[in-house]
Amino acid sequence: MSTIQVVRTRDELFAALKGADRTVLVPTMGALHDGHESLLRHARPLGDRLVASVFVNPTQFAPGEDLDAYPRTFDADLARCEAAGVDVVFAPDVATMYPLGLDGTVTVDPGPLGAVLEGAQRPTHFRGVLTVVAKLFGLVRPDVAVFGEKDYQQLVLIRQMAAELALGVDVVGCPAVREDDGLAMSSRNVYLGPDERRRATVLSRALRAGADAGPDGPDAVLAAAHAVFAAEGVEPDYVALTSPELGEPVPGEARLLTAARVGTPRLLDNVPVTLGA
Ligand code: PAF
Repeated sequence: MSTIQVVRTRDELFAALKGADRTVLVPTMGALHDGHESLLRHARPLGDRLVASVFVNPTQFAPGEDLDAYPRTFDADLARCEAAGVDVVFAPDVATMYPLGLDGTVTVDPGPLGAVLEGAQRPTHFRGVLTVVAKLFGLVRPDVAVFGEKDYQQLVLIRQMAAELALGVDVVGCPAVREDDGLAMSSRNVYLGPDERRRATVLSRALRAGADAGPDGPDAVLAAAHAVFAAEGVEPDYVALTSPELGEPVPGEARLLTAARVGTPRLLDNVPVTLGA
């Protein structure tokens, strides 16, 4: 028999967390797919109380973005959480997360790293992400929180926030889960039409070509990735080679990140690269 608990208010959450020795949190916006399930399965053995939050956070969407259209599949999400051994699903409403209202709320400024790459395209996005994650950390008080590397800049910023604000949470990243043809799993992939779905593999193909050129140095990496985009006729928003912390790349471990619009949805992806001089 299942013992999963669904809680919606702060008090219900605190009651469900009572007596936990080590709490693990996997924050999500729902529309769970195999990528989320791998986060939950990774998280399960890290503590004795596993919490998944399901909350489509309005403050990380700019006006005109897909807040209203964002897929909401709560019953299926619950089934996935149950299968992955989640103890508590925290599914608050907007007023529970933002008691002072969306405009009156206290926010977290992501600092300079929040203004580059995704932040250059979506200037208010990371403020919204860090604000809601800080609130979730405050409410759940997790010992460990698990996030996907698919949203790599988000992961780096959350790590920075946890360290800078001494939040006492160990932030763990898990590799992206990919479809058989390389497309990184994302809740937004449902927006892709059949032709867009085929063309969407351009991101992972470009990144793979870039990573393969790693030993030949940064120029070769960027040239190889751009050549794949050009051959597919897709103009990326950016292709960026950085250090693992999103600084200047140096020989050794590096990260290659990209974003591109393929038809309607904007897709993100990234891979590790071993960089030669
Ligand atoms: O990655 C996501 O799904 C969201 O940005 C997060 C971390 C759950 C915050 O809303």
